[in-house]
Amino acid sequence: MKKDKYTVTAALPYANGPLHLGHIAGVYLPSDIFVRFLRMNHHDVAFICGSDEHGAAITLRAKKEGTTPQEIVDKYNGIIGKAFNDFNISFDIFHRTSSPIHHETAQEFFKVLESKDHFTKETSEQYYDEDYNQFLADRYITGTCPKCQSENAYGDQCEKCGSDLSPTELINPTSTLSGKTPVMKTTSHWYLPMQRHEEWLTKWIKEGNLDGVQQHDPKKWRNQVTGQCMSWIDNGLRPRAMTRDLDWGVKVPVEGGDGKVLYVWLDAPIGYISATKQWALDNNKDWKDYWTGDRKLVHFIGKDNIVFHAIIFPILLKTHEDLILPDNVPAYEFLNLEGDKFSTSRNWAVWLHEYIETYPEKIDELKYVLTSIAPETKDSEFTWKEYQVRINSELADILGNFVNRALVLTQKYYDGVVPELGTLTEFDKSVLAQMEEIPAKISKLVYDYKLREAQAEAMNLARLGNKYLADTEPWKLIKTDENRVETIMNIALQITANLSIVLQPFLPNTADKLSEFLDFKSTDWDVAGSSNLILAGHTTKKPSILFQKIEDEMVEKEVAKLEASKVVEANHEAQKETVECDDFMKMDIRTGIILEAEKVKKAKKLLQLIVDTGLDKRTIVSGIAEYYSPEEIIGKKVSVLMNLAPRKIRGVESQGMILMAENAKGELSFVVPEKEFEAGCEVR
Ligand code: 2FM
Ligand code: ZN
Repeated sequence: MKKDKYTVTAALPYANGPLHLGHIAGVYLPSDIFVRFLRMNHHDVAFICGSDEHGAAITLRAKKEGTTPQEIVDKYNGIIGKAFNDFNISFDIFHRTSSPIHHETAQEFFKVLESKDHFTKETSEQYYDEDYNQFLADRYITGTCPKCQSENAYGDQCEKCGSDLSPTELINPTSTLSGKTPVMKTTSHWYLPMQRHEEWLTKWIKEGNLDGVQQHDPKKWRNQVTGQCMSWIDNGLRPRAMTRDLDWGVKVPVEGGDGKVLYVWLDAPIGYISATKQWALDNNKDWKDYWTGDRKLVHFIGKDNIVFHAIIFPILLKTHEDLILPDNVPAYEFLNLEGDKFSTSRNWAVWLHEYIETYPEKIDELKYVLTSIAPETKDSEFTWKEYQVRINSELADILGNFVNRALVLTQKYYDGVVPELGTLTEFDKSVLAQMEEIPAKISKLVYDYKLREAQAEAMNLARLGNKYLADTEPWKLIKTDENRVETIMNIALQITANLSIVLQPFLPNTADKLSEFLDFKSTDWDVAGSSNLILAGHTTKKPSILFQKIEDEMVEKEVAKLEASKVVEANHEAQKETVECDDFMKMDIRTGIILEAEKVKKAKKLLQLIVDTGLDKRTIVSGIAEYYSPEEIIGKKVSVLMNLAPRKIRGVESQGMILMAENAKGELSFVVPEKEFEAGCEVR
């Protein structure tokens, strides 16, 4: 087998929030499996990732949390990086786009393309917030989606229907800064005239042919990747702005670039290159070896990034001239969670770092489930119930059971020493032949990016072993035919040793445990399939249980935790528009004591109260009758909005309002000072 050279990238996650299982199933776990497999097959590989630390999503989050973008990216780079580490994702480097080497690299890239006239400069009218003196790029503007009428579409995308939008398409555009309708103002930007590249892109994507040279095998590209690209191209490529009016990001490094930064397309993917540079510096290598010549570049991404990696980035790489284009762009569809889309804002998610904190000993269990349900060709779904079923009936009952039997019986019959292989029956021969074929089947699937099937094939080896022991029943035979049992156990141990190799890409921790039990380790895929990996006379160790079964309580607890986030969501409407301090100070709120209370006739919800406000004793009508009876509230403390304009309710003039808190169920409670305060204290 030819030892190809690979540069494998995993989409840079935005450093504006933690990672959830959807991110892991569709990018980071498959890329890690692929790379671990390549390394075992002696390919020269660089596995590159980092956090994407620019963009409006980050500055807006900083604003919302009342902090700086730098603090936000430091925080999430830390959380994300630690989660990757704990989850045993084997990046060669996890870098950051806020690093100086990235800024230099991206600027250099821009300058090269600019000097070769690959950009056009265009002036246009764009939305501008006059209160904040800022152009409203992407997420700084919201409005109604022209395609699905959803009210919270962003200037670059509608999250409801997934359409790509431009700010001017939004109906009722609103600035997310001031909440006001923006004005139009002229600005100029650098554009990438993508239409210039239609011809070669079509040939390259459809046939894998670039400038007459066969570059990749188009049959290996997923249908949805080729399909999405061709639909873009068939609709006609247009110039796309490569810069934005923002101050957080990589500054545009040429004249006229003041106050402008590079847009994500000219920033994040260049992050793959700058991360490679940093890694090369740290390891005494030349980064160019990883981006030029005879090397396969592979981008693992989610489907929302297809056009970005299969059209836009290739244009940039090609126009830069000396750099390689991707050999494949394995894009994943989306993973859903318990019947709904993952959503950061709605907290409908299983967060990787929380899972790791709660179940640090169940890393491989999660990997196994996520690969089993990976959304390779269509959207798929994670449920805690399926998590339980797959772990209990596959990992524990098949893999765990087989390995445990093989090793425990070896301890029992031979003190852990591998017995001799005697005469083989036809059945033994057929089992060994099947074992021998499995690694090659896995290889083919991995090279075809079918990792879900590849893992299933690795599990077939455990199935084979489990069935072999169940069929031969050495625990019965030991009484009548000791020689035969030696052969059976030798074969069972060879299967276990093979599992310690073929499971490595998928379940590295489990494979390590097997190696420890067997006192045998090989990271060489070439030896997998062999029936004499461990020799007679070699001593194995006492095993421990590989996988604990998942109890119903764990499933119930996790599902309840998700359900609780739904209640919280219902209870927490989006924050209202910002008010100035002066506006708030106009309200006169004071503590009061209820002196009298009675029902308002023919009004189920209303009580008429006399309240001592410290200033006076006044009548207030309040809609609390369903939650408080008149008798129980005499003498209770309340907070009163004093200067609300008086109004008549059911014929009674109400001179103010009692402040109430409302919970998710719609129940009401008085809002009172937590200390024993008298009536008339100001609330502010
Ligand atoms: O879509 C995203 O998550 C962006 N952070 C870009 C990821 S792809 C990039 F790294 F090229
Ligand atoms: Zn929409």
